[in-house]
Amino acid sequence: MKIEMKGIHKAFGSNKVLEGVDFDLKQGEIHALMGENGAGKSTLMNILTSIHKKDAGTITVDGEEKEFLNAKDAEDNGITFIHQELNIWPNLTILENLFLDKEIKNKFGFIDRKAMEKIAREKCNEVGIDLPLKRVAGSCSVGQQQMTEIIRALMTDAKVLIMDEPTAALTERETEKLFEVMKKLRESNTAIVYISHRMEEVFAMCDRITVMRDGISVSTRPISETNYDTVVKEMVGRELGSYYPDRTTVPEGTFLEVRGLTHKPFFEDVSFELKKGEILGVAGLMGAGRTEIMRSIFGIDKKDSGKIFMEDRELHIDKPGDAIKDGLGIITEDRKDEGVILDFSIHDNISLPSIDSFAPKTFIRAKEEKDFTMMMAERLRVKMASINNPVSSLSGGNQQKVVIAKWVGVGPKVMIMDEPTRGIDVGAKREIYELMNELTERGVSIIMVSSDLPEVLGMSDRIMVIHEGRVSGIINKKDATQELVMRYATGGK
Ligand SMILES: Nc1ncnc2c1ncn2[C@@H]1O[C@H](COP(=O)(O)OP(=O)(O)OP(=O)(O)O)[C@@H](O)[C@H]1O
Ligand SMILES: [Mg+2]
Repeated sequence: MKIEMKGIHKAFGSNKVLEGVDFDLKQGEIHALMGENGAGKSTLMNILTSIHKKDAGTITVDGEEKEFLNAKDAEDNGITFIHQELNIWPNLTILENLFLDKEIKNKFGFIDRKAMEKIAREKCNEVGIDLPLKRVAGSCSVGQQQMTEIIRALMTDAKVLIMDEPTAALTERETEKLFEVMKKLRESNTAIVYISHRMEEVFAMCDRITVMRDGISVSTRPISETNYDTVVKEMVGRELGSYYPDRTTVPEGTFLEVRGLTHKPFFEDVSFELKKGEILGVAGLMGAGRTEIMRSIFGIDKKDSGKIFMEDRELHIDKPGDAIKDGLGIITEDRKDEGVILDFSIHDNISLPSIDSFAPKTFIRAKEEKDFTMMMAERLRVKMASINNPVSSLSGGNQQKVVIAKWVGVGPKVMIMDEPTRGIDVGAKREIYELMNELTERGVSIIMVSSDLPEVLGMSDRIMVIHEGRVSGIINKKDATQELVMRYATGGK
């Protein structure tokens, strides 16, 4: 199947999102679609699959002009879309999710679980992924849910597969598996649109790349005819300079101390210190227990035992409210769950947690609040039509920026950041790193959980590595190498 999109225009109200985008897809190629948060990547694919209607432009499939009736029609015609935001029913089992609207019935008209299970198992084996088919999806990891979406898509025998940030929540092993599957699909002539902010993945996997910026397509090239710097420049429209800003703060003294923190079976006997003004990177394979440790520290999850001290004073954190009172802040992995209130405006989301510092609501206070939220939104390059629009109208990456902005406003003493730059484009990433530097200069201590090794190495003063729920090593910046971190992360000494 060969697809050509030409001169695509789309506006949401007065917000012109696409202003003449060209995109073409050849049979059996992996085609990367890159661009800053809000550039219009997801929207373009939503138009291809008729989730949104285009305002102007043409789409041809195998040379014939085509407009699908809706997403289902697109899928019936061989175009399957794995969305950026998970589309999983949490109270159904994985198996039920896999066969939603596509249940297999036996000759008596009853749902044939056995047959469905067999097909699902076969598909899982083919891909080399073990999914707990009978488990309720909501109790599975985000990675497993993501994998469920991918398997569901693979069961459609698509000729064109659109993957919007598919690896954001996957473990390294799952990611490798996915790449193997993608290569197999390419051999069988399936075309893949691959949307990702991870440059290494794009350069390792894709045949061609289209870069979008501000609603237009800037370039389409074979991957062999471009490079990292060119792509970044085309995406951001300017040179970025060095990727990680220099750390200027010299961390000193123990500010926070965690002793023997345990929550079985997730992690055990976790002890570490955090200095004032320090960025402590937390590395490890996905599933090692890093997120669980952070959630327990913050009081989202319980702890079996262990103590937390702030400047020698013991903290008693049983719920997030306690943590916030003690001066802790957290940016969670899953913004949909805990990060933002989607129906509230961008302004309200950024200013909400800091409402105390802006109260009482006099006229001047309201103006200060407005200035602050505008300043943060501009600084992090939140692409928005108006600050009064709901967060739900923002692109995925821009929602993540709102989460970060909101916590900066609170001014915590210790900031826990779990995968802070996941799904964020290179330009805004750089801005977030600079913001982290500024925070530490003001004496804030940061714990940064990240699966992005270059980021961990580039930003951390020290790196704590977690392996199977235990601290397997703490490395100083000057000794830190990718190899050493990986060795600890996989249980080596
Ligand atoms: N349903 C909608 N209603 C209003 N505005 C929307 C809607 N969907 C997208 N937009 C706007 O369109 C623009 C492009 O969004 P889109 O989701 O396509 O970006 P993206 O390139 O996929 O970004 P990201 O990398 O963050 O996922 C954004 O400015 C967003 O606010
Ligand atoms: Mg998107």
